[in-house]
Amino acid sequence: MDLNELNKIAMAMVAPGKGILAADESSGTIKKRFDSIGVDSTETSRRDYREMLFRTDEAMRQHISGVILFDETIRQSAADGAPLTRLIQDAGAIPGIKVDMGAKDLAGAPGEKVTEGLDGLRERLEEYHELGARFAKWRAVIDIADDEIPSGYCISTNVHALARYAALCQEVGIVPIVEPEVLMDGDHDIDRCYDVTEFTLKSLFDELYAQDVALEGTILKPNMVIAGKKCATQADVDEVAEKTVKCFRASVPASLPGIVFLSGGQSDEAATAHLNAINAGFKEKMPWAVSFSYGRALQAAPLKAWQGKAENVAAAQAAFAHRARMNSLAQLGDWDEGLEQVS
Ligand code: 13P
Repeated sequence: MDLNELNKIAMAMVAPGKGILAADESSGTIKKRFDSIGVDSTETSRRDYREMLFRTDEAMRQHISGVILFDETIRQSAADGAPLTRLIQDAGAIPGIKVDMGAKDLAGAPGEKVTEGLDGLRERLEEYHELGARFAKWRAVIDIADDEIPSGYCISTNVHALARYAALCQEVGIVPIVEPEVLMDGDHDIDRCYDVTEFTLKSLFDELYAQDVALEGTILKPNMVIAGKKCATQADVDEVAEKTVKCFRASVPASLPGIVFLSGGQSDEAATAHLNAINAGFKEKMPWAVSFSYGRALQAAPLKAWQGKAENVAAAQAAFAHRARMNSLAQLGDWDEGLEQVS
C-alpha cells in the first residue's frame, strides 16, 4: 500500500469547490429513474445519458472531482468510441467504481439489511484499477424503524464488511469511500438520527482501526443528521448543520481527509442549503474537508430536462452544470438562495 498516493487521491477528491457525482445507479435503480421520465432503460440509453453528463464541460472541469461508476459504465465507450473513463479523466476528474453487490436481508433480523460483495472482491478491484478506477464505494444501509431497529447486530455486521472492503481497496491502490447510510425514510426525529448516526460512525471507526485501514487514504460518505421524511417536526437548516457538525466532531478522527455527504432523498435545494450551512458556519471547527457525493440531488434536474431526447441535451447539461455550481459554492460556504434563480 502506498499511503502517500492514496492520500493524494483522497485530497483531490475533496479539493476546494469540488465534489463527487454519484452516477453508479445499479441497473434496477437507473430503470426506476428512467421510468419516471418515460425512457426505456437499455445499454445504449444508459450510455447516452451518462455520456451527456460526463461531457458537461463546465460541471466536470470546475466542480466535479470524481465520478462513481457502475460496473457496466466503467466498461462502456461513448458514441464516438472513446471510453467513458477517458471522458472523465480528460475533464480532470477521477473515475471511481461502486463495488458492493447490494444490501440483502440480514439473517435473523427481519427488516434489516447487510451489504454483500466481499467474495472475489480482491480480483475485481485489481481489474477496476486497470480500467482506471482510483477510488471505490461500498454502501451499507441502516434503517431506523422502532426501538429495536437498527440492532447492534446490523450495525456491527455492516461496519465489519465496510472495513474488510476498505482494507482490500487500499491494498491495490484504490481509495475506499466508506458509506454507512442511515436512511431518512422513517418518522423518527432529528435527535434519533443523531444517536443512530453517532453509534454507527463510532462503530465504523473502531472497526477500521481493528482492520488496519489507513484513514489518511479513506473518504467517508455519510448521511447528514436530519429528521426522517415522515416526521411531523422537520428541523431547520441551521439545526441540521449544527447537529451534523456536532455528531461528526464527536465521532470522526481528524486524520480523515474528507467527508462527502450523500443526498439521500433531500430536495436538490435542501441538500445544497445544508452543505452550505455546514461549511459557512463551521469551517474552522472541522478538521476535514466537507463536500458532496450526490446522486439524486445532482441528477434529478438534468434527468427531467433530458426526457431521453437529443434536442434536450443542451438544457439537461445546463441543469446539471447549475446544480454542480450550486453545490460547489456550498462546499465553499458561498451559496445563497438568490443564486438559485440565475442559471
Ligand atoms: P443520493 O445522493 O441520491 O442519496 O445517492 C448517493 C449515493 O451514492 C448513494 O449510495
